[in-house]
Amino acid sequence: MMNSLLMKLGTLMCVLAVHADVMPAKDFDMEKMAGKWYIVGSASNAKWFVDSKEEHKLSTHIFKPSHDGHMDLVYVHNGPNGTCSNLTFHTKKTDTPGRFTYHSDIWNNDNDMRIVEVQYEEYALVHTIKTASDNSTHVLNNLLSRTNETSAVLQEKFSKFSNETGVLPENLIFLPRVM
Ligand SMILES: *[C@@H]1O[C@H](CO)[C@@H](O)[C@H](O)[C@H]1NC(C)=O
Ligand SMILES: *[C@@H]1O[C@H](CO)[C@@H](O)[C@H](O)[C@H]1NC(C)=O
Ligand SMILES: *[C@@H]1O[C@H](CO)[C@@H](O)[C@H](O)[C@H]1NC(C)=O
Ligand SMILES: *[C@@H]1O[C@H](CO)[C@@H](O)[C@H](O)[C@H]1NC(C)=O
Ligand SMILES: *[C@@H]1O[C@H](CO)[C@@H](O)[C@H](O)[C@H]1NC(C)=O
Repeated sequence: MMNSLLMKLGTLMCVLAVHADVMPAKDFDMEKMAGKWYIVGSASNAKWFVDSKEEHKLSTHIFKPSHDGHMDLVYVHNGPNGTCSNLTFHTKKTDTPGRFTYHSDIWNNDNDMRIVEVQYEEYALVHTIKTASDNSTHVLNNLLSRTNETSAVLQEKFSKFSNETGVLPENLIFLPRVM
């Protein structure tokens, strides 16, 4: 009885630790964030992510600020067999600059996205907490780059950040894959 309670508490504390607040970048500037970014790194412990790890191709995010402070996020997804699909999410600003929320109809989840660190001409670290319809949550980290390439320094930064947010080292992918 006591043991099972302790185990539950332990589990709860792990969950809390994983969701320890990751704050967005200070002085976030949406206009500078606008435009095209290549997703050169991704990390998540979620089953859907791990199961499709081998199939990931270099895809892009396009950020489009709107007049009222919200931001559209276009996900240009390169799927298997050269298929390409564009998904647009209308992300809503929050009281915290650099933090946006949106609902995905296609995956039926709620997303809490934070731009954690950004050099607008270079790279951005993005941390998204996804809540599924059964209220389970998981984290997806993305490393965005203005070019379709990445560097060892950025990969190291992304690995460290993903480790700090609880992602297992085997659940990181970097793109494009080096042959
Ligand atoms: C991709 O092509 C393979 C072989 O032609 C096929 O079996 C598979 O279903 C295709 N996948 C998609 C997502 O179209
Ligand atoms: C998706 O968006 C990109 C960039 O805006 C565009 O080049 C491409 O043609 C679009 N593809 C589809 C299938 O709509
Ligand atoms: C998810 O959480 C909301 C708010 O706490 C609750 O109303 C809802 O019943 C929960 N859904 C499930 C499937 O547990
Ligand atoms: C990256 O961009 C360069 C120049 O725009 C292009 O030649 C190259 O094929 C691209 N590589 C990938 C993996 O998309
Ligand atoms: C993060 O790194 C530390 C030190 O290498 C390691 O002990 C820990 O297990 C890592 N965390 C995850 C989630 O892999």
